[in-house]
Amino acid sequence: MDWGMKNRLSSLMGPDGKCMFMPIDHGYFLGATSKLEKPGETIKPIIEYCDALFVTRGVLRAAINPDDSKPIILRVSGGTSVIGGNLANEGLTTSIKDALRLNVAAVGLSIFIGSEYERQTLLSLGKLVDECEEYGIPVMAVTAVGKELQKRDARYLSLCCRIAAELGAKVVKTYWCEDFDKVTGGCPVPVVMAGGPKVDTALEVFEFVQDGMQKGAIGVNLGRNIWQHEHPVAMAKALHAIIHKNATATEANDIFNETKNG
Ligand code: 5RP
Repeated sequence: MDWGMKNRLSSLMGPDGKCMFMPIDHGYFLGATSKLEKPGETIKPIIEYCDALFVTRGVLRAAINPDDSKPIILRVSGGTSVIGGNLANEGLTTSIKDALRLNVAAVGLSIFIGSEYERQTLLSLGKLVDECEEYGIPVMAVTAVGKELQKRDARYLSLCCRIAAELGAKVVKTYWCEDFDKVTGGCPVPVVMAGGPKVDTALEVFEFVQDGMQKGAIGVNLGRNIWQHEHPVAMAKALHAIIHKNATATEANDIFNETKNG
């Protein structure tokens, strides 16, 4: 791997090779998502706990302070909305020239395997990898399911992650599921876990993150369960402890409660 590619990849992780990515890209298809109406304000108290931000160029330029940022994973796919025909019908929205201008550490796009737009999104991944390899920019593939959340099982996610890696993604973001080691075991590049819609208790989040880390994930790309929570700092601090300090879910829950009450 060339120096630039390696350097960009390592900037996304702690010295331990683990990572806590903070996605704030939801507006690219959801509009002004709850608690993300002013993304710059949302991330202020929690940015210190994350290793990189996952964001579109619009929000990056409008709301993120370039003097005080974390490495950027630029969301470069889109073209659909939650009220449109099909969320899977995505294309590339951003040029590599603009990504370079923004000094990003990586770019990210969604692939929709098993959907009507499987071929289109996979060919976009291939094209993006071709362009990014030329400039040493890592590509993170997001194995997206649109509205079909029931697709999130090990057989399906393992297929998606492997295909993403085969097409040249340097990192794959996927959902946690039961038997997560089957997903990481078949994927030759690092896997990070997405969060998904906000769940009922903090402990549920800590448990799946701990399980996924033990089963081979290198970290998370987890948004709503942090910044939509009524105690975002406590959530961020507790998750940081699981990812970078090997805390158990129970220990993370203690950190969450201490932070929330302190
Ligand atoms: C949307 C995305 C988001 O980055 C992803 O959903 C992660 O955020 P959350 O933890 O809120 O699900 O890729 O397609």
